[in-house]
Amino acid sequence: MVQQVELKRGLRDVYFDDTQSSNVIGDIGRLIYRGYDIHDLAENSTFEETVYLMMHGDLPTQAQLSVFEDSLRAARPIPQEVVDVIAKVQKAHPMDVLRTAISALAAFDPDTEEVTHEATLRKGIRLAAQAPTVVATHHRIRSGLEPIAPDPSLGHAGNFLYMLLGEKPDDDTARLMDKDLIVHLDHGSNASSFAARVTASTLADLHGAVVTGIATLKGPLHGGAAEGVMKMALEIGEEANVEAYLAAKHDRRERIMGFGHAVYRAEDPRARHLREGSRVLAQKKGQPQWFQILSKVEEYMRPYAERGICVNVDFWSGSVYYLLGIPEDLFISIFAVARVPGYAVQVLEQQDKNILLRPLLNYVGPKDLKYVPIAERG
Ligand code: CMC
Repeated sequence: MVQQVELKRGLRDVYFDDTQSSNVIGDIGRLIYRGYDIHDLAENSTFEETVYLMMHGDLPTQAQLSVFEDSLRAARPIPQEVVDVIAKVQKAHPMDVLRTAISALAAFDPDTEEVTHEATLRKGIRLAAQAPTVVATHHRIRSGLEPIAPDPSLGHAGNFLYMLLGEKPDDDTARLMDKDLIVHLDHGSNASSFAARVTASTLADLHGAVVTGIATLKGPLHGGAAEGVMKMALEIGEEANVEAYLAAKHDRRERIMGFGHAVYRAEDPRARHLREGSRVLAQKKGQPQWFQILSKVEEYMRPYAERGICVNVDFWSGSVYYLLGIPEDLFISIFAVARVPGYAVQVLEQQDKNILLRPLLNYVGPKDLKYVPIAERG
C-alpha cells in the first residue's frame, strides 16, 4: 500500500523553529533585525554595532561597542600557515578559497572543538574579522601582489576595501560598503543559513557550520545573481538598447537577474540603499551609464511587480561593486563577508535550544527487489 504523505517540496512555507534574530516580511517587503527595521540600521548604525546587536540581542552601550570593536580589530590577521594554504589554492574560485581557508583556520583556533555559547561567540567574532582578510589576501596573491596587513585605524568595511584594493577609501565609500554589509548580514531561513543550522544541529563546531554556509551561498540561485546583473548591464551597453535586449530575453523565457525572490512579493528592502549608493557612486566616478541602464531595466520590469516579481538586493549591489573596481568573481565573496557573522548568530540560536534537524524524504523507489549475484545479471 502506498503511504500518503503531505509533501512540502523545497520546504517552502514550513516553519521549523522560532527565531529572535531576523524577520523577512515578504508581502510588504520589510526586513527586521532584532526588532529594528533594516532601514533604521542602514542609515544610523555601523556594521560592527549591528553585528553586536545580532550576536547579543541588544544595541551596545558606547563602552560595550568599544570592547567589541577592539576584539574584531585584534582578530583580523590570519596565520601565515593559512596564507600559505590560500597561495596553494589561489587559482580556485574566490568562494572555494574562502571555504578552504575557513576550514584551515579551524586548525589554529583555540576554541574549535568547544560548542558552548561563549566559545561559539568568541569564534563568531574571530571569523567575522578573519573572513575579509581571507578574501583580500587571496585577491592580492592571485593578482601577483603582496597581501596588505589590516589597518587598525580603519573600521571593518573601510579596512576590507583597503586590504582588497590597496587604497584607503574616503568616508563616503567606506560608509557605502558598511551599509552593504549591514543589509546582507542576516536574512531569516535563507538556504545557506539553514544549511549552517543543519550542521550546527549535529553539535558540529562553528567552523564546520560556516564552511557549510559558504558552500551553499555560492550557488547562482542564492549569492550569485549580482554578478549576472552586471554582466547584463555590460551586454546592454547603452540605455537605448535596454528595451530590445529585455524583449529578446522575454521571448526566450529567460529570467532577469536581480528580480524575484523566494519570500518577497514586494521590493526587497535591501535594494533601496544600494540603488542610492549606485546613483551617487556613478556620478562621483563619472560613469553615469550603469545607473541609467539599470534604472531603465527597473522601469521595463515594473509590470512584473503585479506578479510579485520585484527588484531584489542583487540588482543594485553588482553595480556598486563594479564602480568600486571590484572584480565580478568577488561579488559573492562580499556577500559572504557580511553573512559569516550572520551564520554565527543563527548557529548560536540553534545551539542554545538545539534539536537535530532531520526531516523525512518520501520514498517512491522500487520495493521488494531481490539481490542478484553479479555473474547472473544480464
Ligand atoms: N525574471 C523573470 N521571471 C521570473 C523571475 C525573473 N527574475 N523570477 C521568477 N520569475 C517567474 C518564473 O519564470 C515563474 O514564472 P511561471 O510561473 O510563468 O513559470 C514565476 O516567476 C515563479 O518563479 P519561481 O522560480 O517558482 O519563484 P521563486 O520564488 O522560487 O524564485 C528566485 C525565486 C530568486 C529563484 C527567482 O526569482 C530567480 O531565479 N530570480 C533571478 C535570480 C536572482 O536574482 N536571485 C537573487 C535572489 S536575492 C539574493 C538572496 O537573498 O539570495
